[in-house]
Amino acid sequence: MARYPLINRNIRGFLHGGDYNPEQWLDSPDILEQDIQLMQQAGCNVVSIGIFAWAALEPEEGMFQFEWLDGILDRLAANGIFALLATPSGARPAWMSAKYPEVLRVQANRQRNLHGQRHNHCPTSPVYRQKVREMNHRLAERYSFHPAIIGWHVSNEYGGECHCPLCQDAFRAWLKQRYGSLERLNRAWWTTFWSHTYSDWSQIESPAPHGENQIHGLNLDWKRFVTAQTVDFCRHEIAPLKQVNPQLPVTTNFMGTYPGLDYWQFRDVLDIISWDSYPLWHRDRTLVDEAMRTAMIHDLNRSLGGGKPFLLMESTPSVTNWQPVSKLKRPGVHVLTSLQAVAHGADSVQYFQWRKSRGSSEKLHGAVVDHVGTANTRTFRDVTDVGDMLQKIGEVAGTSPEPKAAIIFDWENRWAIEDAKGPRNIGMHYEQTVMAHYRSLWELQIPVDVINMDCDFSRYKLVVAPMLYMLRPGVADRLRAFVHAGGTFVTTYWSGIADENDLCFLGGFPGPLRDVLGIWSEEIDALYDGESNRVESCPGNILGLSGSYKAYELCDLIHAENADVVATYQEDFYADRPAVTANRFGEGMAYYVAARLEDAFQHDFFQLIARECGLEPVVRSQLPAGVSAQVRTDGTVDYVFLMNFTPVAASVQLDDKAYEPLYGEIPHDGRVTLAGYGVSVLKRPHEKNQ
Ligand code: GLA
Ligand code: ZN
Repeated sequence: MARYPLINRNIRGFLHGGDYNPEQWLDSPDILEQDIQLMQQAGCNVVSIGIFAWAALEPEEGMFQFEWLDGILDRLAANGIFALLATPSGARPAWMSAKYPEVLRVQANRQRNLHGQRHNHCPTSPVYRQKVREMNHRLAERYSFHPAIIGWHVSNEYGGECHCPLCQDAFRAWLKQRYGSLERLNRAWWTTFWSHTYSDWSQIESPAPHGENQIHGLNLDWKRFVTAQTVDFCRHEIAPLKQVNPQLPVTTNFMGTYPGLDYWQFRDVLDIISWDSYPLWHRDRTLVDEAMRTAMIHDLNRSLGGGKPFLLMESTPSVTNWQPVSKLKRPGVHVLTSLQAVAHGADSVQYFQWRKSRGSSEKLHGAVVDHVGTANTRTFRDVTDVGDMLQKIGEVAGTSPEPKAAIIFDWENRWAIEDAKGPRNIGMHYEQTVMAHYRSLWELQIPVDVINMDCDFSRYKLVVAPMLYMLRPGVADRLRAFVHAGGTFVTTYWSGIADENDLCFLGGFPGPLRDVLGIWSEEIDALYDGESNRVESCPGNILGLSGSYKAYELCDLIHAENADVVATYQEDFYADRPAVTANRFGEGMAYYVAARLEDAFQHDFFQLIARECGLEPVVRSQLPAGVSAQVRTDGTVDYVFLMNFTPVAASVQLDDKAYEPLYGEIPHDGRVTLAGYGVSVLKRPHEKNQ
C-alpha cells in the first residue's frame, strides 16, 4: 500500500471550493473580480464550472459563445485557482426542447414532459446525443489544455428514466441482447403465470402504472436497463472529451444511495468517484445517527472507486433550501462534517454553490458568499476554517483507509427485495438494515468498505451481507471459497432466496448458501409493527455471546443442519428454535442471524466477531458514545481522525502508540479532550499486519 496519485500534479494537498456559476453575474464585472479575491481569502483552490451553462454557451442553435468562459478561466488560472469543467447536459436551453420535442422525457404514464426544470432529457434521443456530442467536443477542443482545467465534471446528478418510444425500442434491443430469444426471456420472467407470455418482442413495454408492473423480472430488467442506458449516455458524453485529451480525468457527481441507478455500473467509465452529501444535520439532538449514515455513504463512494480517495463534490456551507427545515449548522459543525468526509477518504471539500443566486429556485440555498456580498459572515468564516484545516492536514491527501472488513450493499438486491410482494409489505427496510449493521462496526471503530456482491472478497477478513436475498451467478461460490480459505461471513434472514432473474431457488433456502451456513430456512414469520419476540444466547455457545435481545419485524424459522446454535427464540410457537448459528466451514466461519434484532445485539455480536477474526479498532480503547475514530494510511504513517458528533465535550483515551498532533485538539497525558463537535487529527507510525 502506498499513496494514490493526486488529481493533478500541480495541486499539493486537498481540493477546496465549489460550484461556480458566474454566468449569473456576467453583467457585474466587479462581482466576478471580487469572487477571485474571496476565493483566495477562504483558502479555495478549485471550482466546478459550467454545470448548467448551456444557454450561456449556445444561446441559439449553432451560435456558440465561449468568450465569457475564456475570460473567467484565464482569470482563475492567473490566480492559482483550478477548475473542474462541466458538460452542460444536466439542463438544456428552451430552443432545443421547442425545436426537437424528442429530447423531452416521457414519464411512466407515457406523458411527455413540457420544457422546464432540469435533469429531464431522454438518454436515448439521437438528437440530444448529437447536441451533447457537439457541445462536449467544442468544450474539449477549446479547454482541454487550459492551465486552469484539472478534470471533467460530466453532467450533473444523472437520474430518472424515460419511457418514450425511442427508449422502448432501446429496451427491447437490450433485452434481445441479454436473452437471445423470447423463449428464454419468458422463462426468466416466469411469464406463464397469469398468461403473461410474450409472443413478439414488440409486445414488451417498460413497467407502467396503467400497464404491466407485476412481472418482477421485467421490473428488475427495466431498472438494469435504465442504469445501462444512463451509463451509455455518460460514456457517450466522455468519448469526445477523451478524444482530445485522454489524460484529463472524468467524474460525475453521485447522490449517495439514490435508488434509481446502480452506481457500480459506472466503475469502468469514470476515473474519479465523487458525490454530493446533504445530510439532515441537527435533525436530532446529536448528530450521531446522521453521522453514522453519512459515514457509510462516504465509505460506499470510496469503495466504488476501488478504495482510492473520492471527491466530496457538493455539500452545503450552511443550509439547503429543500430539506423540510433549513436548520443552521451550529458552531464547529461545518469543520466537523467536512473533516468527516476527509476521514473516510475524500480528497476534497466542495460546496454548492460559491455565491448565492439572486433569484430562481435556489436563491435561499446556502452559499459561501451570501447576498450581503462580503467575507464578514459566519458561513464565510466557517469555510475559511475548513480551508485552514485542509492546509494543515495537506499531507493526508492521497492516503486511504485500508479496511479489512466489508459490508455488502447491493442495488439489484435492493430492487428485488423492495419489488417482491411479501413477506412484509409494510417495510422490508433493506437499506436501514445494512446501516444497522454498519452502525455497530462504526461504533466499534472497525473501518469498513461498502461493496456489492461482485467485489473481490479475498482482501477482507470479514464480509457482512445483511438480507442477501439475491445471489447472482458465482456469488455463492465466491463466498464459499472466501470462508473455506479462512474468512468470516455473516448473513441474515432473507438471504439466498432468488437468483439474478428474481426466480426463487428450489431445494431449500438459503439456496446455494445452505452448505456454507449449515442451515435450512423453512419459513419466515413477519411481525406487525410493535410486535416482538426474544432471542437469548445459549449457555456455553461457541461464540461466547451472552445477552438476550429483542427480535422484531422478521423471524426466520431455521433448522441447524451442520451449524452450532448460538442463540434461540424464547417466545411463540418457535421458542427454542435456533435464531443465531455458527458454522465452521474449511478454515473459516459462517454465521446466520435468523431474526431482525435490536442494535444491542449487533454491537455485542460484532464485538465478539471482530475479536475472533483479529480486526483491530482504530484506537485501542473504548470511545465515548457519539465519538467516531477513522484512519487513513500510506502504509508508513497513519492519520487518525477523532470526531465528536455530540454537543458535549468528550475525552478519548489513546493507546500506547506514538501520537503527534496535526490539527485540532492536542493530546495531554495520553488523552484527547474533544469539545462539543470538536475534532482532532493525529499522526502515528503505521503498524504492519493490522
Ligand atoms: C444538488 C445539485 C445542485 C444543487 C444542490 C442543492 O446536489 O447538484 O445543483 O441543486 O443539489 O442542494
Ligand atoms: Zn426516451
